[in-house]
Amino acid sequence: MILKIVLIVFLILAICFSFVLIWGAPYLPTLKKQVKAALDLAELEKGNKIIDLGCGDGRLLIAAAQRGFNGVGYELNPLMFLIAKVRTIRYRKQVKIIFGDFWTHQWPKADAVYVFLLPRLMKKLDQKIIKEGCQDSKIISFAFKFPARRPIAENQGVFLYDFNK
Ligand SMILES: C[S@@+](CC[C@H](N)C(=O)[O-])C[C@H]1O[C@@H](n2cnc3c(N)ncnc32)[C@H](O)[C@@H]1O
Repeated sequence: MILKIVLIVFLILAICFSFVLIWGAPYLPTLKKQVKAALDLAELEKGNKIIDLGCGDGRLLIAAAQRGFNGVGYELNPLMFLIAKVRTIRYRKQVKIIFGDFWTHQWPKADAVYVFLLPRLMKKLDQKIIKEGCQDSKIISFAFKFPARRPIAENQGVFLYDFNK
């Protein structure tokens, strides 16, 4: 019986973490140093909004809320969505976690967009950012660059882009 339950839990976890690969990147958290670097690069002001495309456990949005920013996170992995939702409860006036695929959602207007995805998604993401009219937002990517663009700044492997340049 116990073995059956363990197997079922394992199967559910495996499904949660692997099906996301069809639409995007697997869960891997941004480290504390890079979260700080991303928010420093963004140079936002209190009340500004940042979107995290695939927000994982919500850590970037929590750090953003602690600096007085507002945040919206999309998350497709149901388990990570629940974790992010619970972790951001105390910041619920500032942070909104949305369950779903950021490719198919219409994004709110934001001052910055943060991503930590995969190299193979960066070209498609470039087009989606333009489609969503986010060229004026600060675009920040951890680890992976947009193939057709040059970052205007870099810190700790986090790249900042100005899509108007
Ligand atoms: C590499 S992790 C980054 C997590 C978080 N942004 C961070 O930096 O700590 C990528 C996250 O994006 C989520 N994800 C991947 N594709 C997605 C999609 N199309 N829509 C929403 N979430 C997605 C994954 O489930 C995963 O949690």
